[in-house]
Amino acid sequence: MEHRQTEHLAATEAGLDRAAALLREGALVAFPTETVYGLGGNACLGETVAGIYAAKGRPSFNPLIVHVPDAHTAQTFGTWSDTAEQLAAAFWPGALTLVLPVQPGCGLSELVTAGLPSVALRVPASALARDLLTRSSVPVAAPSANPSGQISPTTEDHVRKGLQGRIAAILDGGACTVGLESTIVGLTGAPTLLRAGGVSREAIETVLGRPLATPVTGDITAPGQLTSHYAPGKAVRLNADTWEDGELRLGFGKVDCDLNLSAQADLTEAAATLFGHLHQLDAMPGARIAVSPIPQHGLGAAINDRLTRAAAPRS
Ligand code: TXA
Ligand code: MG
Repeated sequence: MEHRQTEHLAATEAGLDRAAALLREGALVAFPTETVYGLGGNACLGETVAGIYAAKGRPSFNPLIVHVPDAHTAQTFGTWSDTAEQLAAAFWPGALTLVLPVQPGCGLSELVTAGLPSVALRVPASALARDLLTRSSVPVAAPSANPSGQISPTTEDHVRKGLQGRIAAILDGGACTVGLESTIVGLTGAPTLLRAGGVSREAIETVLGRPLATPVTGDITAPGQLTSHYAPGKAVRLNADTWEDGELRLGFGKVDCDLNLSAQADLTEAAATLFGHLHQLDAMPGARIAVSPIPQHGLGAAINDRLTRAAAPRS
């Protein structure tokens, strides 16, 4: 679908109602969550879901995360379990996605699950997002609202630069507070960490009382994430203890740099600033972005995952 004009919708009653009506009727609407902006579409309509892939220019039909307003609604699409209940009670609404066996006949488009017998479900913490989901009364498939392979959007401005003219509307809810996509935990077998994200592995393991399994590489159920992803236009150099001439310096902690992820070396702050700072440095003159070392614990694991993909050779 071509949209010469993408509607800008404010976070008002009228804006929310308009966004909800568009979603219900199958149009694509970008909306804020606490993690990143999502490119939303009615998850029951095959053509709409196909339109999401087309708008992003995604090379393949990876399964998408389905967003719902509460755990009760999630249970109409995914098969619940004691572990699902435990994790939902601890982390929903929030930056955790659960992959559950799909409920037969629940009405989701097969494109959303990419034909898998499981579905990824999330209840976002953003009150605006949940208000939109409640008003739309449909499950909403939403990958990050950026062209495939590029940096994820954490502001309305990022979304507009990437998808203007390719979607019906953008609901403007300001900057995302978490700044990293949700953590994905698979619950079709032993609880497995499929993607590091906004909730740390340690926090989940504390609730479960046991370690999360690590996916078998090459397993079809593991997120089909391209190695080069979240990529700025410029080259990226990681673990930079010193800066080289001409580099744009993305610091962490008490270092001299162009932009700092967190001068206090706070990983939560660094997660929230990561994509925005990459967008900004990408727009500045210079050939390469160099990044300070980031500790691997807590949200650092997810930050390093995204940075490693940003630095990977492009295909
Ligand atoms: O924070 C987020 O999660 C954002 C915001 C917008 O909510 N959404 C997001 O969605 O990142 P998306 O659709 O890009 O995430 C898709 C990831 C993929 O890596 C995919 O492989 C995995 O979720 N996934 C989806 N369904 C799955 C399934 N049935 N089994 C295993 N992985 C699945
Ligand atoms: Mg993405």
